[in-house]
Amino acid sequence: MGMADPWWQNSVVYQIWPRSFKDSDGDGIGDLRGVNEKLDYLKDLDVDVVWLSPVYTSPNDDMGYDISDYRGIMDDFGTLADWDELVAGLHRRGIRLIMDLVVNHTSDEHAWFVESRRSRDDPHRDYYIWRPGHDGHEPNNWASAFGGSAWAYDEPTGEYYLHLFSPKQPDLNWDNPAVRREIYAMMRWWLDRGVDGFRMDVITAISKAPGLPDAHTASPGRYQFPGEHVLHGPRLMEFLREMRREALSPYDTLTVGEAFAVTVEQAIELTNPRDGPLDMLFHFEHMMLDSDPLGPLTFAGRRWELGELKRVMTRWQRELDGWNSQYLSNHDQPRQVSRFGDGGRYRVESAKMLGTFLHLLQGTPFIYQGEELGMTNVSFPSIEDYRDIATRNQYRELVEERGMDQAEVMKLIHRKSRDNARTPMQWDDSENAGFTTGRPWIGVNPNYTEINAAAALADPDSVLHYYRRLIGLRKANRVVVEGAYELILDDDPAIYAFTRGDGEDRLLVILNFTGGTPDFVLPGHLPPTGASLLIANYPADDAEIARLTLRPYEARVYRLAPPEPTIRR
Ligand code: GLC
Repeated sequence: MGMADPWWQNSVVYQIWPRSFKDSDGDGIGDLRGVNEKLDYLKDLDVDVVWLSPVYTSPNDDMGYDISDYRGIMDDFGTLADWDELVAGLHRRGIRLIMDLVVNHTSDEHAWFVESRRSRDDPHRDYYIWRPGHDGHEPNNWASAFGGSAWAYDEPTGEYYLHLFSPKQPDLNWDNPAVRREIYAMMRWWLDRGVDGFRMDVITAISKAPGLPDAHTASPGRYQFPGEHVLHGPRLMEFLREMRREALSPYDTLTVGEAFAVTVEQAIELTNPRDGPLDMLFHFEHMMLDSDPLGPLTFAGRRWELGELKRVMTRWQRELDGWNSQYLSNHDQPRQVSRFGDGGRYRVESAKMLGTFLHLLQGTPFIYQGEELGMTNVSFPSIEDYRDIATRNQYRELVEERGMDQAEVMKLIHRKSRDNARTPMQWDDSENAGFTTGRPWIGVNPNYTEINAAAALADPDSVLHYYRRLIGLRKANRVVVEGAYELILDDDPAIYAFTRGDGEDRLLVILNFTGGTPDFVLPGHLPPTGASLLIANYPADDAEIARLTLRPYEARVYRLAPPEPTIRR
């Protein structure tokens, strides 16, 4: 059986957020040697690629997404020698490594910024975006994604610099060719050292609208995130094509861009197989279904609806002329089983159902650490237990500035905080879940005594073993990688069902997204007999599939009988 080319289309990616993966030296913080200890776990799971969130030198204002030296390793995480050992260990096992590329901004402690802020005519001044204020105010009304103004006043030179995220994350000035040259050289440096590609952090924000015009806002006087002026900006395509040419093209890489608010049309420009500069994107439409449209990190939200989820996913499946990525979790999002499934009574069933969804859609699946165990959200009692800057800022804004009730805000945080994803990986039921022998930098989810990797390895019915089977299914069946997607039962309020077909082979995927027992009725154009079961999260048989009563969060994947040959007379 021939496999699709390029390799990343056949791959399953596993994201490691290193601070919470495994601590090797007892300081309470995960590190590179800790990851190295767990390579056989990853190999057993059978993933093909690891995406490692930032391990570069950083003062950790935004947990490594604020980099002060692109060629250094953060002390907490180890040394470059540890990194070399890690990449060698991965490659020996046939696993590739992609790293975060965080180049929309640096840390304010990066040498470029330290020099840039010194004087208005420093050679590094133009590496960043500096503007004079007007009438004692910020240069415009732009808000940072983490709250408040996107401008910080800097005493020594009496001007403001732009930071779309924290004030300790000044935005780089991509219009300056010297900045671009430095970044491409840095990328080549890592590629030469053995990295196999990049996950590009907020990459669609690197080109800002000339003149930096005010953002549209319904409430004048308030700061507003300037999506329309910074996302998919006028020179984005030019910059990314240049990056492909100058940095990536000699290497066989995987690139996946984080693309907040990207539309399918823009995604086609960015990833089409003819001249798209990126291989894949992370769109956010399904992540926004329970969020306030004003910002990804805004906790105020609503309940998501299955009909909307179907519409969003189906549009990307049908219309993207490019390659989809699939994710339901990452280090910025709550745990998927708590969000889209049931973190309580049907935790195991719904975690498997969501895993089936992730792996059977067209596109490359991205698994976030602990997802394969069915790890859940956490409810820490106090804001003091939270470490994430976005969570802490939002709390302050909602409680102190908008006067919301503290208990209400804590509820929102329990539902949406990024720290839900950042509690330590649960390895076993020993103290601190086997993550560290020291005091963990953030609390461990108390459910680790039940939910942990050791227990999952010992239980043939665990979410972990099910994920391994899903990954195997993808490797054994070309149709899982390449088959066209077709939604059925479009309007069913409980069941998400679709087929994947490539002419010879056709699979039927049936997913109950509820704790109820809805009836599945097969549409007339699909064959009701002769189907064989490939995987299911409850005991089930090859069966008549004309009508099935589904159990809570049930998932089944069938291979459908081949169509009757048409007889010509
Ligand atoms: C991306 C990262 C997030 C970070 C932000 C700023 O959204 O995924 O963790 O806070 O960029 O770098």
